[in-house]
Amino acid sequence: MKRKYILAAAALFVIAAVTAGCKAIDDEPSAAVNADVPMPSLTTMEKLTESLAETDTDLAEYAVADTGTSQTVQTVQSETAVPAIPAVPAGGDAEPDEFRTETATQAESADTAVESISLTFYSVSLETGQSKMPIVTMLPENASDKSEIWESSDPGVAKVNELGSITAVSEGNCIVRVTSAQNPEVSAEVEVTVTAGAQITYIGGILVVNKTYALPADYNPGVDPEAQAAFERMQADASEEGLNIYISSGFRSYDYQAGLYQRYADRDGKAEADRYSARAGHSEHQTGLAFDLNSIDESFADTKEGKWVSRNCWRYGFIIRYPADKEDITGYKWEPWHIRYLGEETAQAVYDSGLCLEEYLGITSEYQD
Ligand code: DAL
Ligand code: ZN
Repeated sequence: MKRKYILAAAALFVIAAVTAGCKAIDDEPSAAVNADVPMPSLTTMEKLTESLAETDTDLAEYAVADTGTSQTVQTVQSETAVPAIPAVPAGGDAEPDEFRTETATQAESADTAVESISLTFYSVSLETGQSKMPIVTMLPENASDKSEIWESSDPGVAKVNELGSITAVSEGNCIVRVTSAQNPEVSAEVEVTVTAGAQITYIGGILVVNKTYALPADYNPGVDPEAQAAFERMQADASEEGLNIYISSGFRSYDYQAGLYQRYADRDGKAEADRYSARAGHSEHQTGLAFDLNSIDESFADTKEGKWVSRNCWRYGFIIRYPADKEDITGYKWEPWHIRYLGEETAQAVYDSGLCLEEYLGITSEYQD
């Protein structure tokens, strides 16, 4: 409100300063910065800006607070950057050429309707709980109103919000449609298939995640506090011995892992990526119970820190999850940096057995496809 009064006072100042030949400026802030209203000379506008001692950002904020539209923000920002339209001479009926040109362009833009909508994908397969949002392009570029209206043919299968984020609700198929608010004849559709999410698996009280056992896409617990505390104890004890152990990768969400795996698969091919990177839903990092320590490289095993972790991590409830020479069983190459929290009792039992977790539990680690 305070700014509104300041701006209104400034507008009155402009009215007083501009000669009677100029068209009057509305005392409403939105009109004072609206391109549709003939503006005072740049010099006057500069004075106005100085007298307000406002920055562009302040003006933009003001416009948002006043109208609640981002469109107004853009208008305000461009107004401060683009020279003002020359003042209309006394008499007012002889408009300068520049003014006529700009008015004509604005009128053309105001009439330009959306003619087509394109999406970054037209079909999607999601697990229950998973979300995905296509990027929308409405053409032509200069269409005056690109507002989107989203709807789902069956919100019980997949719902969609006003931004176009599609969330899978239950198994089945449906269509999600985006329509131009300005031109309801123009729309685009996404075919959505929803499959059942994976089930969380505990074996012998241990949360198991490997190539055979996956986590649901919406399982998103963050770092496990007990595992974090155990790591910090281990880190403090290692530090007493002059060793620096730190977490270089901890909790990773389903979506983060999906992107990570995809980048590796693009770089090295799927078969090779599968030897060292888990597909989305199959990474222990999604449990919040796994940490990568220090340098993610086999050379870590030869460092003082790597040797210390290998000998001592079980005391804090961790195991080296992917030991050397067990790729056929764990499904992954040796990762001396990747530790998994099991709790002290189980970690000691697994360590003492000399087995990897799959051997210890008598389970497989193989993708189905
Ligand atoms: N590097 C391990 C296997 C993971 O991606 O979870
Ligand atoms: Zn890891």
